[in-house]
Amino acid sequence: MKKLLTIIIMSAMAVSALADEGMWIPMLLGRNEADMKKAGMRISAKDIYDINNACLKDAILLFGGGCTGEFVSNEGLLLTNHHCGYSYIVKHSTVEHDYLTNGFWAMNRTEEIPCPGLSVTRLVRMEDVTSRVLEGVTPQTSEGERATIIEGNINKITDEAVKGTHYKAIIKPFYYGNQYFMYVNEIFTDVRLVGAPPSNIGKFGGDTDNWMWPRHTGDFSMFRVYAGSDNKPAPYSADNKPYKPLKHLEISLKGIKEGDFTFVFGYPGTTQRYVTSDAVELAANIENPIRIDLRTIRLKHYNNAMNQSAGQRLKYASRVASIANGWKKWQGETQGINRLHGVDKKKEFERSFQQWANDKAEYRDVLPQLHQAYDKLRPIEVELTYFSEAVRASDFMGRAQSYLRLANEDNESEAAKLVSSLKEANNQYFSDFNLHTAVDRAIFVETFVYMWKAGYATYLGDAALGTDAIKAKLEKIYDGSMLNDKEKLRKFLDGYNTGKANKLKDDPGVKLYDQAISIARDAEKIASYGKAYADIQRLMRSYVKGMMEMQPDVNFFPDANLTLRVAYGHVEGFRPRDGVYYKPYSTLQGIMEKENPDIYDYVVEPKLKSLYYRQDYGRYGLLDPANRAAGPDMPVGFIATNHTTGGNSGSPVLDADGRLIGLNFDRCWEGTMSDLLFDPDYCRNICLDIRYCLFIIDKFAGAKHLVDEMTLID
Ligand code: ARG
Ligand code: ASP
Repeated sequence: MKKLLTIIIMSAMAVSALADEGMWIPMLLGRNEADMKKAGMRISAKDIYDINNACLKDAILLFGGGCTGEFVSNEGLLLTNHHCGYSYIVKHSTVEHDYLTNGFWAMNRTEEIPCPGLSVTRLVRMEDVTSRVLEGVTPQTSEGERATIIEGNINKITDEAVKGTHYKAIIKPFYYGNQYFMYVNEIFTDVRLVGAPPSNIGKFGGDTDNWMWPRHTGDFSMFRVYAGSDNKPAPYSADNKPYKPLKHLEISLKGIKEGDFTFVFGYPGTTQRYVTSDAVELAANIENPIRIDLRTIRLKHYNNAMNQSAGQRLKYASRVASIANGWKKWQGETQGINRLHGVDKKKEFERSFQQWANDKAEYRDVLPQLHQAYDKLRPIEVELTYFSEAVRASDFMGRAQSYLRLANEDNESEAAKLVSSLKEANNQYFSDFNLHTAVDRAIFVETFVYMWKAGYATYLGDAALGTDAIKAKLEKIYDGSMLNDKEKLRKFLDGYNTGKANKLKDDPGVKLYDQAISIARDAEKIASYGKAYADIQRLMRSYVKGMMEMQPDVNFFPDANLTLRVAYGHVEGFRPRDGVYYKPYSTLQGIMEKENPDIYDYVVEPKLKSLYYRQDYGRYGLLDPANRAAGPDMPVGFIATNHTTGGNSGSPVLDADGRLIGLNFDRCWEGTMSDLLFDPDYCRNICLDIRYCLFIIDKFAGAKHLVDEMTLID
């Protein structure tokens, strides 16, 4: 009886843990079909992925190297996020044509702007190649041999798969190498910028609203994919034609309501769903706090500078966006893990696993060995965290790295090449940053002091020295280094030859950097780290395999690995904390509530305001049937329970009929632990309502010709 009870409780736990959780493999979606239909889906798994017929998958693209995009017209028109197209919008912006600030709309095809370096990838087909990849691998094969065999097999299989075609194939491991899938892809490189709203729409709310709900960001941009006359990928040419996709998404104007079924189809980057309590503890309670503290220091100084002038704001904007993005996410992640008692939950599961494994030779030692491997990994991992978040925090140390490289180069002509690239970099650096030396100096000093206090920069002096002395020492290093002296550095580089290497090595900045990376010379440490890391990969392979044997009825989703996935759930609000309930959608009214002409991120364009005051929303507005007298409102964003992560940005959010209702672009802060632990009560993805996107294109930008290309369903 007791055993039966345990089984019931365990399987209930397994099922409830998986409600709404998961990023599923399109090819295997048949396994989820019944569940998806029960949740409200009206199309079939085959409508989503079908190897023989055009299907939704043909409309989904990997955008660049880390976002998702989707076709919305039969002429290659593509939607993604504003923050995904950001660097291309910036690249084409000048003071005269500031597309980033003012937006950009191609009013005809000739105005569309080529984006060299940008590619989009369409999945042609995928295949389970596990048995072929593991051919020749036996339980006795050593890890080293295993890797060699697998690499050889992968090369053979991918070569064969694309022979005689223009396709490219890659094979990726799933479940830590228990399974392998091949992806045969078609890559388009002629991609042109078509439209982007002004920043105060596309990035409305900026870093303050980032990772937060309620949200009002019009986070979208548009591109068009071009192909050769045979409709196949071709390098940029003025003669190329808009690509005719096999499938483009239909757009639903029906709107959303709480409880509606939704799914997200895109390219999630990385999750770590199956790691042990040690890994969760390391990330949430050891590494995140260090990273957060060190980034707090940097952000304090950058934000001060940015508040001083528009010029400084522009200079630091994009680096601050990326520093702040991680900084804020890690805070939410750590709070979320601890709120859920995530480490204890993992330990609880580990106890039940161990109980199950005790009489199985294959699995008995897996958890104890993983624990040992983490003990080895942890101290070095922390040291590396200090390296990337403190040592590399300042421009000064970033530059010191390049100069150390020069000092270590004894080939005269190689050194000359380095010198000329350093000179070029200096032109840029000193014209941009000489005004802000104080910012970089303060960041350098404070981050090193922080690291020294934690016992990680003992080369600066021992604890007896005291903080003030260390600070003074660091200031002296900064001020005494020729790297921070434009003229001295110019003269030195002008006369450089390898005979001057020692002088460079004696520079206090270069010297300090050299000391700070002593870990790189510690062969024993590096070997120990490499071994611990490899052990963890190997042991996780067994652990995950064991988990699946232990719970044969659970459909385990594989961790995200930047391959195409489907996540499904429904539109739903949530309670972020006691006494507060978040509705699942936001409207233009919220933009007006947030408006603040004095704060850059909350400026509202006069044109948008006038549309609001006139309630001029065209066919995109929302009329509350219960309150028609109030007139229409304009939906802006919504949240849902789809399991997403970085890389899902730009992914289409689809309804029960597979029609586009929104663009995924973020997650709610209270649920950012979802890469490690998913909680259906807190984890929500944030979506741009497609109607706001269309309203901006049509009514705000006057680019109705773009909407006319799309297939809208009322
Ligand atoms: N948090 C989102 C993501 O991780 C959006 C980041 C871009 N937006 C920003 N305000 N920094 O990519
Ligand atoms: N904002 C993320 C992205 O750019 C999405 C997320 O992390 O939820 O992919």
